[in-house]
Amino acid sequence: MATRITLLKFPSPFIILFFFLAFAATDNPFGSSKPIRSAIGKHKEKLSHLRFFWHDIVSGPNPTVVQIASAPSTRNSSTFFGSLSMIDDPLTEGPDLSSKLLGRAQGFYASASQQEVGLLMAMNFAFIEGKYNGSTISIMGRNTVFSSVREMPVIGGSGLFRFARGYALAKTNMFDLKTGDAIIEYNVFVMHY
Ligand SMILES: *[C@@H]1O[C@H](CO)[C@@H](O)[C@H](O)[C@H]1NC(C)=O
Ligand SMILES: *[C@@H]1O[C@H](CO)[C@@H](O)[C@H](O)[C@H]1NC(C)=O
Repeated sequence: MATRITLLKFPSPFIILFFFLAFAATDNPFGSSKPIRSAIGKHKEKLSHLRFFWHDIVSGPNPTVVQIASAPSTRNSSTFFGSLSMIDDPLTEGPDLSSKLLGRAQGFYASASQQEVGLLMAMNFAFIEGKYNGSTISIMGRNTVFSSVREMPVIGGSGLFRFARGYALAKTNMFDLKTGDAIIEYNVFVMHY
C-alpha cells in the first residue's frame, strides 16, 4: 500500500512535463511560432486617425506625377483606360502646398475602368514628421475620382504602423480640369500597435 502511494506521488510532475514538451515540440513542424503576445510586446492595438492633403502636380516645372505607360487605345478612351502614372506626391498638413510637409505618397495609379474614371491606386505614404518619421502605410484600392468620397484599404505598414490595417477616405479639395492638378484630402483610419 505504501509503495503504491509513493509511485503516484512522485512520477506525476514528470508526466506533466513530458506532455508539455511533446506538445511544444510538435507545435509548428515548419519553423518556429511565437504567441502573438510576445511578438508585439505589451502594446495594445490602437486606432489612429491621420488627416492630410495629397498634392498631384501635373503642370509646371516640377511635376510630381509622370505618365510612364499607356496603350495605343488610351487616347481614344474617355476614361484614359490603360494609362499608368508614377507619383511622388507631397502630403501636407493643410490644403495649401506651402503648409507643413508630413510625408510623400510614392507609388502609381492606373486607369483600370472602361466605364468611368476608376483608378487602381498602389502607393506608400512615407511619413517624415514627428513620431511617424520613417514609418509607412501601404494603400491598395479603387479610386473613382469623380465620386465625392472614395474608400481604399490600408493593406499594411512599417515602423509604428507594423501590422496596420484600416481604410483611407479620399475627398477632392481642388481639381483643375485644365492642368489636371489635384489636391485631395485623405482621412486614414488605421489599426496598429
Ligand atoms: C482611335 O480613334 C480613331 C478615330 O475614331 C481611329 O481611327 C483609331 O484607329 C483609333 N485608335 C485606336 C488605337 O483604337
Ligand atoms: C526624420 O528622420 C531622418 C532620418 O533619421 C532625419 O534625418 C530627419 O531629421 C527626421 N526628421 C524629423 C522632422 O524629425
